[in-house]
Amino acid sequence: MTDPVDAWRRLAGACVLLDGFHALKHAVRFGAEVPVAVTADRRAALALADELAPDVRGTLDALLAEVPPGTYASLVPRPHPTAVAALAVRPSRQANVRALTDTARRAPVVVLDEPRNLGNAGAVIRLAAGFGAAGVVTTGTLDPWHPTVVRGGAGLHFATAVERLTVDELPRGPLFALDPEGEDIRGLKLPDDAVLAFGSERSGLSAGLRVRADHLVALPMRPQVSSYNLATSVAMTLYHWSATGGAVPS
Ligand SMILES: C[S@@+](CC[C@H](N)C(=O)[O-])C[C@H]1O[C@@H](n2cnc3c(N)ncnc32)[C@H](O)[C@@H]1O
Repeated sequence: MTDPVDAWRRLAGACVLLDGFHALKHAVRFGAEVPVAVTADRRAALALADELAPDVRGTLDALLAEVPPGTYASLVPRPHPTAVAALAVRPSRQANVRALTDTARRAPVVVLDEPRNLGNAGAVIRLAAGFGAAGVVTTGTLDPWHPTVVRGGAGLHFATAVERLTVDELPRGPLFALDPEGEDIRGLKLPDDAVLAFGSERSGLSAGLRVRADHLVALPMRPQVSSYNLATSVAMTLYHWSATGGAVPS
């Protein structure tokens, strides 16, 4: 049997870090390939599985190797309270692009146009997973698979398609760009094949994205308030899509 620490050291550079029990649980639930998972306390981790994730308890039991606390701490940037960590294989760009460009899409794709904040990107991926969005695309320099984004996404990158693309490569579908100057969202029904674009925290929508937009859409907001946080804007928009008939998975 392969030593889990050797396997970790061999794979860490090429794989995605799943930091903590919940990230591992979500990744396993949504079909991630997990070549190695470690814990400093197997009994506690499996007790959490019994309590919170009986559906994947068997898989976690087979995956989790116990290592001494010091070894666990040496493998991760900062130890997680659950003392669980794993490495997952990042889905190929080709597979993500295929999912994002599926012409029979039944749910919107969320586009973050040149986002800056890694925490916001993680929160948006978590929202996209929860609402069953077809995927999350970022433009610009932020890597949506950065470890901090994966941490913020709680392992839910594996529940949707996450990829960085240029504006020219965006999936097809009517492009609704969110902007306080747009048309009130409350009078609109967002189609299931919509591409929903959100601007950067600092400067809003880029010129390139604005040119491509079919509609500018505003979230209700008092005039004295300049804007909402990026992730909360995505939350309101996906909620609006679902509340006006968009499918949320069972
Ligand atoms: C923090 S805001 C950007 C603020 C930025 N200073 C600006 O000039 O637009 C991030 C993004 O959230 C979305 N957003 C925030 N408030 C909104 C609102 N009231 N209506 C529509 N979109 C909004 C937009 O897509 C915006 O580009």
